[in-house]
Amino acid sequence: MTDLKGKCALVTGAAGGIGATVVAALRARGARVAVADRDVSAIPAEAHLPGNLLEAAYADGLPAAAQAALGGLDIVVNNAGVITRGTVTESSDSDWDLSLGVNVQAPFRICRAAIPLLAAAGGGAIVNVASCWGLRPGPNHAVYCMTKAAIASLTQCMGMDHAHQGIRINAVAPNEVNTPMLRTGFLRRGFDPDTAVAELGKTVPLGRIAEPEDIADVILFLASDAARYLCGTVVEVNGGKAVG
Ligand SMILES: NC(=O)c1ccc[n+]([C@@H]2O[C@H](COP(=O)([O-])OP(=O)(O)OC[C@H]3O[C@@H](n4cnc5c(N)ncnc54)[C@H](O)[C@@H]3O)[C@@H](O)[C@H]2O)c1
Repeated sequence: MTDLKGKCALVTGAAGGIGATVVAALRARGARVAVADRDVSAIPAEAHLPGNLLEAAYADGLPAAAQAALGGLDIVVNNAGVITRGTVTESSDSDWDLSLGVNVQAPFRICRAAIPLLAAAGGGAIVNVASCWGLRPGPNHAVYCMTKAAIASLTQCMGMDHAHQGIRINAVAPNEVNTPMLRTGFLRRGFDPDTAVAELGKTVPLGRIAEPEDIADVILFLASDAARYLCGTVVEVNGGKAVG
């Protein structure tokens, strides 16, 4: 098990399926964690930083707030995300603003604020959550896919630009994960989530879709010293199922 004793971490989207699992896994390995989401009251953590990532001042201030609350900052996990469904012709201005705001602009703001703090402390690790659907096109989610391509590209650029400061910036690109994001999507379309998840699992070479733990373990690896020579990588975590 990766030892993260004494490390201080900020996790966004901490109340969600993947985020809550990442928070628990970080704490189980000895890290002290600041949790960010709209409502973090029910999440066991060392610091609680509730807010809306669409508010610029909140996103800009999160890394410093986490550092102040924890007494340091070593790891940032930009995990919060939203999914909007539809082709371009079915996408509204608000779909665009929401998707770009949460999936691209917020991690941009958080990375921009975190990098100088991590550099001043001698280095650190940032892990962004992209998607397989950002690496190749997925059907009927054009704006979502584009935002995930954007965060994958930003990760590659930042990984290159900030390695010299001892900051490793990488991303995971999951395919389907059994979380509220996926399950509410099925519900909205009138499917029973358990049946739909089981059916979807049959399309994965490994025989099932991912559980949050499958993604959290890779995020923790990227955040840890075991990934000390990885900078700007986007790791596909897909059970053998590529998009397309
Ligand atoms: N579930 C999947 O199949 C899947 C696949 C690939 C990538 N991902 C990515 O994984 C990440 C986590 O997704 P998840 O499946 O755990 O989803 P989730 O819906 O369970 O969690 C997302 C969290 O982000 C938070 N969030 C959204 N908008 C916010 C805002 N404006 N301010 C503050 N917090 C906000 C939500 O409150 C929620 O707790 C996302 O970036 C998602 O795009 C998920």
